[in-house]
Amino acid sequence: MKYVIGVDLGTSAVKILLVNQVGEVVDEVSKTYPLYQEKTGYSEQNPQDWVDQTVAGLSDLLKNFSGDPEDIEGISFSGQMHGLVLLDENNEVLRPAILWNDTRTTVECQQIYEQVGKERLLAITKNPALEGFTLPKILWVKKHEPEVFAKAATFVLPKDYLRYKLTGKIHMDYSDAAGTLLLNIREKTWSKEICDLVGLDLTLCPPLIEAYDQVGTITSEIAKATDLSPSTRVFAGGADNACGAIGSGILEDGRTLCSIGTSGVVLSYEASNEKDFQGKVHYFNHGAPGVYYTMGVTLAAGYSLSWFKEVFVHEESFDDLLGEVHTVPVGSKGLLFTPYLVGERTPHADATIRGSFIGMDGSQERKDFVRAVLEGITFSLNESIDIFRKNGKTIDTIISIGGGAKNEEWLQIQADIFGAKIVKLVSEQGPGMGAAMLAAYGCKWFDSVKECANTFLKKEKEVFPNKENVEKYKKLFAIYQQVYPQTKEINEQLKSFRE
Ligand code: XUL
Repeated sequence: MKYVIGVDLGTSAVKILLVNQVGEVVDEVSKTYPLYQEKTGYSEQNPQDWVDQTVAGLSDLLKNFSGDPEDIEGISFSGQMHGLVLLDENNEVLRPAILWNDTRTTVECQQIYEQVGKERLLAITKNPALEGFTLPKILWVKKHEPEVFAKAATFVLPKDYLRYKLTGKIHMDYSDAAGTLLLNIREKTWSKEICDLVGLDLTLCPPLIEAYDQVGTITSEIAKATDLSPSTRVFAGGADNACGAIGSGILEDGRTLCSIGTSGVVLSYEASNEKDFQGKVHYFNHGAPGVYYTMGVTLAAGYSLSWFKEVFVHEESFDDLLGEVHTVPVGSKGLLFTPYLVGERTPHADATIRGSFIGMDGSQERKDFVRAVLEGITFSLNESIDIFRKNGKTIDTIISIGGGAKNEEWLQIQADIFGAKIVKLVSEQGPGMGAAMLAAYGCKWFDSVKECANTFLKKEKEVFPNKENVEKYKKLFAIYQQVYPQTKEINEQLKSFRE
């Protein structure tokens, strides 16, 4: 039997999957690393932590592996998107990585609009200027840390840095480059026009490749440190959402994905780059050849739940925390939660908004709060589904992966709030599985990514919406949607108290 490895470099942890030729996950290892939030709106990580924990995880994986390491033919990556890793001329890291959920760059987004123009930006990149994207982060460093910026020779994204440390080669793949706001997503070239207008040197942008391209093999030091064979082929890999799409078979028209990790996304396949969503949802290059996807993002999805657990019930497991949710009625006894813990992206691109619990009542218990958090995250994701439907998409079936697919009651909540059939796959590890599939396709095990999906991905179950609950949630969603406009002004006033 032959194997491939999919490495999912997430925000809270790296998850490493060993997958065989029929798509079975034969082993998985996860290693965590810290997130540094020095000030409100800041979110940084140390790139060396990603490398150390991946190497440690690969080494653990190989310790458990009883086969011949030569049979592990390839490795590829799925990476948290947008994070800025600035490198000097010797490819040394210049400062901590500034992550996708760091929102310090509102002024730089404004600057991009002034210098490039909203319409031109949308025409070239198909996306608006959002705090989370990479270009505003580069401009922030240029302005606030000129001595650091002066030494910058190139920039990469998180998984590109990890891959560089494993191979010695610097690249960025199109699906991740699409989230920088510097890629012409139609022509698949770096935009010299945008670089010139914002005052960046085009040479800062690394060489571009496809997610399934081989960049080389692992270095002999990494082979020694992990026990992988030095002949292990390394493939570029893609953005975590592009890999999530591949790992859940979002490879043809009409396929929609709901993925709940630290962030939450609703993502839909696009055969071309021709559609116009006026920048209301992100529009990115897929990891599969020549296609695209559109996506809405909830910044704090799984993060809202882990925040709640961390702050209020630190000592309990997620299973204990969620254990009683099915006993709470739809609507959590009148308690609504908005998951704006770090601001929001879709549909409200707003770095200042913060979350709320509305409707607290003396009779409510902890389990009601837990259900309200699950419902609030799902309402937020439903706002993206709403945009897709209003733009003419039919969404009647949604594949659910990540944390949201691990809990039975949450799957039902998704079916009832989205008003759609929810499909759970045997592996809910979409991004890691997608990365493994890119390696399998790169190794030529299959003629196409779709053929690989047909072999690797299996349905575990379907969850159908309950008519009565759908009606109740429709009413609650309309109330939920009023919370943002009614708390916006209050949160602007509270902003100075956060610092
Ligand atoms: C997508 C985004 C997040 C990260 C999470 O635009 O910012 O989903 O990719 O890793």
